[in-house]
Amino acid sequence: MNLLSTLVVVVVVGLTNLIAAQDCYAQQSESGQGLVIYSQAQLDQLTQNCTQLHGDLVVGTNYTGSFIVHNVTNITSSIGLNNSTTGLTSLEAPDLVALYSAGFYCPSSLRSISLPRLETAEVLTVKAGSAITVSTPSLRNVSYLNLYGSSISFDFPKLELITTGSSICGEAGCDMMSSQAMDVDLPALREAASLSVGGNVSSLSLPVLASAGNITQAMTTGYGSYGAGLSVYTTQLLNFSVPELSYLNGTLSLQGVFNDSISTPSLINATGDIVIEAWTPVGLNFSTLEYVDDITITGTITSADFSSLRSVNQFSLSSSQYLNCANVLPSNTSFVQAHCDAAPQKKSALARNVGIGVGVGVGVSLLLAVAGIWIYRRRQAARKKKGKAPVTRSGSSSGTGEDSTVELRPILGYA
Ligand SMILES: *[C@@H]1O[C@H](CO)[C@@H](O)[C@H](O)[C@H]1NC(C)=O
Ligand SMILES: *[C@@H]1O[C@H](CO)[C@@H](O)[C@H](O)[C@H]1NC(C)=O
Ligand SMILES: *[C@@H]1O[C@H](CO)[C@@H](O)[C@H](O)[C@H]1NC(C)=O
Ligand SMILES: *[C@@H]1O[C@H](CO)[C@@H](O)[C@H](O)[C@H]1NC(C)=O
Ligand SMILES: *[C@@H]1O[C@H](CO)[C@@H](O)[C@H](O)[C@H]1NC(C)=O
Ligand SMILES: *[C@@H]1O[C@H](CO)[C@@H](O)[C@H](O)[C@H]1NC(C)=O
Ligand SMILES: *[C@@H]1O[C@H](CO)[C@@H](O)[C@H](O)[C@H]1NC(C)=O
Ligand SMILES: *[C@@H]1O[C@H](CO)[C@@H](O)[C@H](O)[C@H]1NC(C)=O
Ligand SMILES: *[C@@H]1O[C@H](CO)[C@@H](O)[C@H](O)[C@H]1NC(C)=O
Ligand SMILES: *[C@@H]1O[C@H](CO)[C@@H](O)[C@H](O)[C@H]1NC(C)=O
Ligand SMILES: *[C@@H]1O[C@H](CO)[C@@H](O)[C@H](O)[C@H]1NC(C)=O
Ligand SMILES: *[C@@H]1O[C@H](CO)[C@@H](O)[C@H](O)[C@H]1NC(C)=O
Repeated sequence: MNLLSTLVVVVVVGLTNLIAAQDCYAQQSESGQGLVIYSQAQLDQLTQNCTQLHGDLVVGTNYTGSFIVHNVTNITSSIGLNNSTTGLTSLEAPDLVALYSAGFYCPSSLRSISLPRLETAEVLTVKAGSAITVSTPSLRNVSYLNLYGSSISFDFPKLELITTGSSICGEAGCDMMSSQAMDVDLPALREAASLSVGGNVSSLSLPVLASAGNITQAMTTGYGSYGAGLSVYTTQLLNFSVPELSYLNGTLSLQGVFNDSISTPSLINATGDIVIEAWTPVGLNFSTLEYVDDITITGTITSADFSSLRSVNQFSLSSSQYLNCANVLPSNTSFVQAHCDAAPQKKSALARNVGIGVGVGVGVSLLLAVAGIWIYRRRQAARKKKGKAPVTRSGSSSGTGEDSTVELRPILGYA
């Protein structure tokens, strides 16, 4: 308890109490990790008359019970928690409206994080290996949003804007293996500079997403590990739907197991690329698309509609399913390079075996998705030279090795 007096420094600015916002300061500990909070009483003492908290807060590893940040509406620095805090059961900030950065690496004892009034945050990271509820019903915009772990159940009913980057993932890509599937519901999201969703995703809802890849407002420091655009990789059969998507910059990347068909009904002009790797049979409907940078498609593609496409830089489609390559691009499409190869038309006996084919495909995809994610990340991070060709080639009988190398080459150019 002697530690308290040396660690806690409370400064109420303005002896006259004239200003509504009152500041308090969490002083760095000797280790430079921020002010460590060991008990609710210590926290309450710090925040008693405080509305703006400056300096970093850390939840002490021997903290037990609920951690409740009363009164504070603005945390201008950070709040952190690591998974050694095995006695913590809930974390709440009932009055918090604005937050600079939160890094919650959750112990299994922690069942809920509640930030009911939070409207804006620069960085919000939650990593959890066991069931936890993250409630942020008022959050409207965030610069970085990271949710690692499929056991996180979250709600972002008002989240409209992701200005820098986001990663919502359920398994290997974020080292959180889990037997649970993740529901990703972003009912109000209109704009995301970078949105990456991946893993054991059982549903994805982006009903009003209109813009992906506009990085104009992105934070420049720390930006780089997020590729502009929208990326989805899924090991569960997923309905992919972006009915409102009309602005695409960077890359639209879809990898994995998709239900039925992939379409972008509102996308006409894209300043970015489209990259698709399908592990189970799927049709592509890009019938509204007129201008796009590069298109790279591999896997089990059963149909592809690019009937309005006027201009593409590099076009490459390689399918292990039957597809009529002659009709894939309209005759008046301008391109720098275009390539299409597909399996020959199936005998009807093979068509009857689709059930088995899908079963095997899903099994394989669980393994391949891991490699796919890894390769994609490397590509995004380093904009490397040659990618690895063999990743998607197992099912194809007709493509030449040389062609597949070309198809998986990372797209050049956009710095
Ligand atoms: C908080 O405000 C009350 C009333 O203004 C005052 O009595 C008390 O000392 C203040 N506490 C701190 C820690 O400043
Ligand atoms: C701070 O929060 C506590 C607990 O909710 C409350 O009792 C107290 O009145 C608040 N103080 C101020 C100054 O808002
Ligand atoms: C967790 O935080 C405590 C201090 O709060 C630190 O001593 C410990 O090393 C941290 N553990 C990990 C795994 O980061
Ligand atoms: C938690 O650890 C701190 C620092 O080691 C110590 O001062 C405090 O008494 C501990 N609290 C409890 C409840 O054990
Ligand atoms: C904390 O996380 C690290 C790495 O993420 C992990 O190795 C460790 O087992 C976790 N510890 C607890 C207590 O969950
Ligand atoms: C929170 O504090 C920061 C730094 O003082 C300030 O820029 C920001 O506008 C504040 N947010 C709110 C909602 O008061
Ligand atoms: C984020 O939300 C806050 C609070 O609603 C608002 O003041 C701010 O202007 C928003 N920022 C952006 C970039 O829209
Ligand atoms: C994905 O989630 C489903 C449903 O909860 C579960 O049966 C399956 O084992 C999970 N798969 C992985 C690879 O975690
Ligand atoms: C589009 O994305 C590229 C990177 O892919 C970036 O350099 C450019 O600034 C982005 N444009 C806008 C408007 O965000
Ligand atoms: C990108 O976002 C900025 C800031 O919100 C906006 O002014 C601009 O019009 C957007 N650009 C495009 C091409 O949508
Ligand atoms: C996917 O969409 C189809 C209709 O297109 C629907 O029947 C099916 O239930 C949806 N599946 C999921 C998992 O949402
Ligand atoms: C798409 O781009 C073309 C050529 O730059 C332009 O003529 C057309 O108006 C654009 N359409 C839309 C919907 O932006």
